[in-house]
Amino acid sequence: MSRIPLISGNWKMNLNHFEAIQLTQKLYWTLKPEDTQNTEVSLHPPFTDIRSVQTLIESDPMPFKLGAQNCHFEDKGAFTGEIAPSFLAKLNVTYVIVGHSERRALFGETDGIVAKKAAAVLANEMTPIICVGETLEEREAGRAEDVTAAQVKGSLAGIAAESVGNLVVAYEPVWAIGTGKTCDADIAQGMCKLIRGVVAEEFGAEAADSVRIQYGGSVKGSNAAELLGQPDIDGALVGGASLDPEEFAAVIRGALAP
Ligand code: PGA
Repeated sequence: MSRIPLISGNWKMNLNHFEAIQLTQKLYWTLKPEDTQNTEVSLHPPFTDIRSVQTLIESDPMPFKLGAQNCHFEDKGAFTGEIAPSFLAKLNVTYVIVGHSERRALFGETDGIVAKKAAAVLANEMTPIICVGETLEEREAGRAEDVTAAQVKGSLAGIAAESVGNLVVAYEPVWAIGTGKTCDADIAQGMCKLIRGVVAEEFGAEAADSVRIQYGGSVKGSNAAELLGQPDIDGALVGGASLDPEEFAAVIRGALAP
């Protein structure tokens, strides 16, 4: 089964809508058509930028899928400050990151909440990018595999096997996020293989074969090709490097087959 690589730029809480337009245009000018021919690229701006980026990429059109960084699991109601998945679907959002480690650590998101969000994203015909990964303490205590496997089970709980094959899991070791410390490619490969094994156990071989697994954590131009060349790594979730058009373009080119 050939899985199309997905390179996702998670801008986090950076760039207002004017800056978002500038970055998207610069990225488009930096890339050559062949760079995105066999690779999907998604951009995940802050909520207030999404409409501007949508207008830009649909009017040209540019070879980018629109993404979001989070959403609520309910469709509407008294949830002050939250964004419903249906609002994102209306803006032609394709991919929604759920359960990013920053949301788990800073905003109290549990596997149960992440599973509800993933289900809500799917119900609105978008694709969740479900983030999992261990902390430094957990890795040092020899628990990286157990913690990550438990997160995969908990965050995908209740999702139909047919849907699991179409979603995206991002393995993001917390100690590698924003630290400049990339996970060694062989360790990242081992963890992504473990995740695929958990999906096989829980949802069957077909789902495991087609689910795409991204690596995230200090991905940049210089390490992208090695990471993306691993058999179980189907893309990258990129934070810091996605804010620099040259660097992000280099990551995207890292997905090109040698
Ligand atoms: P980073 O962030 O690339 O800056 O390490 C990755 C992420 O948080 O998704």
